[in-house]
Amino acid sequence: MEMNSRFLQACQRQPVDVTPVWFMRQAGRYMPEYRAIREKYTLIEICQHPEIAAEVTMQPIRALGVDAAILFADILLPVIPLGLGLEFVKGEGPVISSPVRTMDDVQTMKPFDAESDLGYVMEAIRILRATLSGIPLIGFCGAPFTLASYIIEGGSSREFLKTKTMMYSAPEVFHALMQKLSAVLSDYLVAQIHAGAQVVQVFDSWVGALSPADYEAFVLPYSQKLLKSAEATNIPVIHFGVNTTTLLQLMKRAGGNVIGLDWRIPLDDGWSLLGDDVAVQGNLDPALLFAPRSEIRTRVHDILRRANGRPGHIFNLGHGILQHTPVDNVKAVVDTVHEYSAVKANVL
Ligand code: CP3
Repeated sequence: MEMNSRFLQACQRQPVDVTPVWFMRQAGRYMPEYRAIREKYTLIEICQHPEIAAEVTMQPIRALGVDAAILFADILLPVIPLGLGLEFVKGEGPVISSPVRTMDDVQTMKPFDAESDLGYVMEAIRILRATLSGIPLIGFCGAPFTLASYIIEGGSSREFLKTKTMMYSAPEVFHALMQKLSAVLSDYLVAQIHAGAQVVQVFDSWVGALSPADYEAFVLPYSQKLLKSAEATNIPVIHFGVNTTTLLQLMKRAGGNVIGLDWRIPLDDGWSLLGDDVAVQGNLDPALLFAPRSEIRTRVHDILRRANGRPGHIFNLGHGILQHTPVDNVKAVVDTVHEYSAVKANVL
């Protein structure tokens, strides 16, 4: 059953009954049942209690009818055992109390062992595999660049000025940090796979801030190390970024069986740039979930027409679900994707 799930089939570019759909950030504050749990626990506490993390992972499975579950965790969790200090401050987002700015800072980052340092993530995966039936489980981590940007800036950023200043002014420090993160993240992602994750996604959410030349010099080798270590386990790997129209071919070279597309590029144009030897995931603008139902349907149909029934399309948003998204509209996307792609499959 699970082996034949439409999500796993699409990741491998095999034909499917209907187009599979899931959403980045499908668990979170837009759901009342998530907010109820968040009244009692912080985000980090949820992640560190495997039963609660598993319960939150299941909320969108029950509420939406999606074709995949994504482990509830956060890309910033490895920052805690690395000894850099992590807190989510209300209204401010993530804050890293000891950011990395010098070679000395890189060298004094703590050694990392995923199984012992983030054992609670592996435990949540094991609980979920025993709970989910027929719905595949996605594990994930941040890509080295996106994680480095938080670690260097000390939190979220608009311009990535500290990150780029390190790249251009102290490249040996930047490369040493990326080297360390690619090893940490490879260990973490492979541990998730060994615990039972059936697909993994690497989030390089902020890499679109870079030019292709800088991507190639400063990011590609490290993302490649991470993606190849996951691919070596023979499970599907999704490689995702935002604002990546000019980077797509380099991202494909770095690795991944599935490449995530944001909404800035029409799905068929993105797929042409990549070639038909990879699957694609995307790419509805998350803001469309605030539009009238008829507009949502029109835009979903447009994306499915661009995919045109080719094997290897996974429907998703171009980035994560936004905070005040109406749940009913998310459910409407799931139903529209399933209904329209079933009709198209019958016509073909
Ligand atoms: O997708 C899912 O349902 C799984 C859970 C998930 C979370 N974070 C939980 C979370 C996933 C896949 C992530 C990934 C993540 N975390 C990314 C990459 C994806 C993307 O959106 O680009 C990034 C950049 C982060 C870092 C992060 N975590 C930020 C910037 C924030 C927002 C801080 C804020 O105050 O809004 C978080 C917090 C976070 N992680 C929330 C959730 C559901 C917000 C809700 C909460 O505080 O309870």
